[in-house]
Amino acid sequence: MEQPVRPDPESDPGHPDIDAVRAHLLAAVAASAGLDALDLVRVDALGKQGQVTRLLKTLGAMTPEERHAQGPRIHALREAVTAAVADRRAALEAAALDARLAAERVDMTLPVDLAPPGTVHPVSQVMDELAEIFADLGFSVATGPELETDWHNFTALNIPETHPARAMQDTFYLEPRAGAGGDAVRPPAGDRETPRVLRTHTSPVQIRTMLAQKPPLRIIAPGRVYRSDWDATHTPMFHQVEGLVIDRGITLGHLKWTLETVLKAFFERDDIVLRLRPSYFPFTEPSAEVDVGWSTVKGRRVLGGSEGWMELLGSGMVHPRVLENAGLDPAEWQGFAFGVGVDRLAMLKYGMDDLRPFFEGDARWLKHYGFSAFDVPTLSGGVGAQ
Ligand code: PHE
Repeated sequence: MEQPVRPDPESDPGHPDIDAVRAHLLAAVAASAGLDALDLVRVDALGKQGQVTRLLKTLGAMTPEERHAQGPRIHALREAVTAAVADRRAALEAAALDARLAAERVDMTLPVDLAPPGTVHPVSQVMDELAEIFADLGFSVATGPELETDWHNFTALNIPETHPARAMQDTFYLEPRAGAGGDAVRPPAGDRETPRVLRTHTSPVQIRTMLAQKPPLRIIAPGRVYRSDWDATHTPMFHQVEGLVIDRGITLGHLKWTLETVLKAFFERDDIVLRLRPSYFPFTEPSAEVDVGWSTVKGRRVLGGSEGWMELLGSGMVHPRVLENAGLDPAEWQGFAFGVGVDRLAMLKYGMDDLRPFFEGDARWLKHYGFSAFDVPTLSGGVGAQ
């Protein structure tokens, strides 16, 4: 584009050709194709050494009459150029925004990315795997509150007042509510409704299920539990899956077969061997700690075989007093129960050696150990599919 000739405002300081300067500058403003070019024109006109600024400076050397005649024209020139620059800037910015919007337009008809960036946490994955496996055996999933009553968490489960699990060190107790007078209001002894603790295990779901449903019962209850612990294998919150079967004529044999079947499916190995070791829980009688056998393959410990044993979960036959507390006649109904740490199962199956990163939300850990949302949470979603 042909540039207008730039007039020299000082060629005749007495009679600067203001109209020529105006025409030149307005044309240059209109011709600037971008914000950078416009800024150069602005500096050339209105900057310290700009043409308009220099014209303004000529006013000082004029006679009062000249100043009277030229002053308003020069000031009008400055206003006209300033306004033209502002208008042009607004137009250029609007055009830039339009261009950006056009360039960044989302084509809604494009197919979506089928690999979302997030991952499924190993705890969720393992809970889903267990739910699938137990569903095959006719178990449904039950839930209960994490803020639990002392009665459901301890008393109904035959855990005596003096039991160490009730100690302040092991359990998170809730503050008693403040009453109208501001005093702490403690629920009356034997209160079955007011939440007082963060549940320390999923076993209270046994009680809730037996109170709510008629046997026969086959449930698992996955969920969060809380204890005041903190080291490489203990966190204040962790996850358990409770299991409960209530029917007529249930024996320890049913318990062992069920756990064997489930753990073979879960670990995807037929050579899983279990050992029931006599133990004690207030809510089961007899009680058994279940160990799983391991063996050494190429210098590494793997599950399967029985070269050594590793403690896996707690279990037993539901104590008659617990059945009674839940309104069932122990002469008619028997059952078994077990509780297993989900996080521990995940560590054993997927090879993590520290529990704490499970709950730190580090995206790198999740990317490494997490699962695709499209992984089917079944046996086939296990190690082999990774
Ligand atoms: N609730 C027990 C615990 O948290 C585990 C358990 C559940 C034991 C059911 C026996 C029966 O340690």
